[in-house]
Amino acid sequence: MTCHFLDIADHDNATLTAILADADAMKSGGKPHADVLAGKTVAMIFEKPSTRTRVSFEVGIHQLGGTPLVMRSEEMQLGRGETVADTARVLSGYVDAIMIRTSRHEILTELASYASVPVINGLKDRSHPCHVMADVKTMAELKAPHHDFSGLKVAWLGDGNNVAASWIEAARIMDFNLDLAVPSALAPDDDLMDMVNGTSIRVVDDPMTAASDADVIVTDTWSSMGMPGGYSNSGDRQELLRRYQVNDAVMAVTKAGSVFMHCLPVYRGQEATAEVVDGPQSVIWQEAENRLHVQKAIMAFCMINGGTGATGAGA
Ligand code: CP
Ligand code: NVA
Repeated sequence: MTCHFLDIADHDNATLTAILADADAMKSGGKPHADVLAGKTVAMIFEKPSTRTRVSFEVGIHQLGGTPLVMRSEEMQLGRGETVADTARVLSGYVDAIMIRTSRHEILTELASYASVPVINGLKDRSHPCHVMADVKTMAELKAPHHDFSGLKVAWLGDGNNVAASWIEAARIMDFNLDLAVPSALAPDDDLMDMVNGTSIRVVDDPMTAASDADVIVTDTWSSMGMPGGYSNSGDRQELLRRYQVNDAVMAVTKAGSVFMHCLPVYRGQEATAEVVDGPQSVIWQEAENRLHVQKAIMAFCMINGGTGATGAGA
């Protein structure tokens, strides 16, 4: 069976821990799965802009011996109405895996249903699992060296967006406490809120309650690419989110030794102040680097567990 990486919630704790362990080994100079993409091509389809995802996947594919193929969807027939299913079947005859940055969940699932090669979610409007895997790796490096996250508290402040959704999935499966302080109008979708019931995940109104005693403070842009109206960041929206800004007052109520995370790009003065973003508790560059290591481990996981692909059996 083809092995995809579409969302964190699709995988169990043991699988995610094994991916993190491979990423650790890769980062520290080990060579697990060094040739897993030898002779193979990985297509990357971008419906939206990207710096980190594009470069970290492209470099990672090279480092695993493969060839990356980057395409913007508007340059493909996909952008002129060819179906996702037909695109999936055609690409499966040429390439060995597909990474896609898309909008709707249905595009990702249709691609995965019709592709006979692994499909990896490089962000959709509803989730950003590769980034949150990099965050979980960063959190492990700093706070949980043996991948035992129990007892840790993460606080998400701001928009209940795609990155927040993947944090909810990660907290449920990797077993850490997560408080989300989000305006009720911007809360994550109902099915995600259902996932919160009976877990150590809480949705609170007060950002200080969420931040209190937290090991990790995390936020993201107030104007995601998937928002209705694109990048629009209206005054109303800014007003709604203003009290969730991560600033020195928020950091002051966190646990000693706490860290600040952000998936980037960051807008200083909006979701977080420059003092926090560029301050001593910020680990944003470490997170960004970890995208490379964790995505290499995700690609290896997909290829080993069902990536027969266009050019032969998985490694
Ligand atoms: N964090 C992240 O995914 O960055 P890009 O949009 O630059 O890929
Ligand atoms: N929430 C942001 C993440 C960008 C990497 C967006 O979807 O635009």
